[in-house]
Amino acid sequence: MIEIKNVYKSFDDKEILSDISAVMETGMTNLIIGTSGSGKTVLQKCMVGLFEVDKGDIIFDGKNLTNMAQEDRKELRQQIGMLFQGSALFDSMTVEQNIKFPLDMFTKWNHQKKIERVNDVLERVELTGTNKKHPAELSGGMKKRVGIARAIVLHPKYLFCDEPNSGLDPQTSMVIDKLIHEITKEYNITTVINTHDMNSVMEIGENILYLYGGKKEWEGSSKDIIFNKNQQLNQFIFASEFLRDAKDMRMLEEKGIVDNDRNMEKIMREGGANLLMNDDDKSE
Ligand SMILES: Nc1ncnc2c1ncn2[C@@H]1O[C@H](COP(=O)(O)OP(=O)(O)O)[C@@H](O)[C@H]1O
Ligand SMILES: [Mg+2]
Repeated sequence: MIEIKNVYKSFDDKEILSDISAVMETGMTNLIIGTSGSGKTVLQKCMVGLFEVDKGDIIFDGKNLTNMAQEDRKELRQQIGMLFQGSALFDSMTVEQNIKFPLDMFTKWNHQKKIERVNDVLERVELTGTNKKHPAELSGGMKKRVGIARAIVLHPKYLFCDEPNSGLDPQTSMVIDKLIHEITKEYNITTVINTHDMNSVMEIGENILYLYGGKKEWEGSSKDIIFNKNQQLNQFIFASEFLRDAKDMRMLEEKGIVDNDRNMEKIMREGGANLLMNDDDKSE
C-alpha cells in the first residue's frame, strides 16, 4: 500500500499538484487518470522519488519516502519496478541483456542464475526464446512486454507504469493491460498506472484517481465511474457522443427502465439522455 498525503508540487511558480491525498492499494491496479498535462507523470515521479515533493508525504507500507535516509531510499528503489513511457529499452542491447540489466546492477548472482531468472520472466510475458533479439526486431506490443519483464525481474513490491498503452493499437493495449493486471494479482504487487485510455479505465480500473486542475477531482472504481455525477470527469471519460449514449443506456438498465430490446430501441429513438434527466429531476 502506498499512501499519498497532502502532496504539493510546483515548478517555478506554477503549481502542478495541490493537496493530493490518496491510497494505492496492494494487489490492485491503481489508475491515475486525467487529460494530458494534468500532472500524472509528475505525481508518479514524486511517488518514486525522482521529484521531491514541496510538501506532504509518500508512505510505502508505513515507510515515509519523504524523510527517508539515502540508504533506505536505495533499498526501497530496489522494490520498485518501472515501466517507462515508450518502454525505454536499450536499443544496442539484446532482450536478454535488457532484462538482465537490473540484476547486474542490484544483485551479486552468478551468470547462470541471472539467465534463469531472465528466462522465467520472459516465459511469464510469453516471449520465451526471444533472448538474442534486439528491440528494433520487435513489435510495439513485444517491446512493452520486454519492458514489463524487466520491471518485474527483481520481484518488485511496487510497479509503476506510465502510459503503458501509448503507441499501441486497442487490441494490443488490452493484452498489455490484462498482463499487468494478472501480474499484479499473481505477485500481490501495488501497481500504479498512468493512463488516459478509457478501455483501460473500464477493464482494469480497480481504484481510480482523477486529476483535474492540479487537484484530486474524483476517486472510485470503474463501476462507480459509470454512475458518477462529476461534470469534469464525465466530460473527460465520456468525451464522445457515442460513449455518452452508452452511459445513459447503462444507467437506464440499472434503474430497471430498460428490460428488453424493444424497450431499448424505443428509448434510443426517444432519446435516452432526456428520459434520464427527467427521472433524476423527479428524485431530487
Ligand atoms: N521537469 C519539469 N519542469 C517544469 N515543468 C514540468 C516538469 N515536468 C512536468 N512539468 C509540467 O507539469 C505539468 C504536468 O505534466 P505531466 O505530469 O507530464 O502531465 P501528464 O503526465 O498528466 O500528461 C505540465 O504543465 C508540465 O509542463
Ligand atoms: Mg505523462
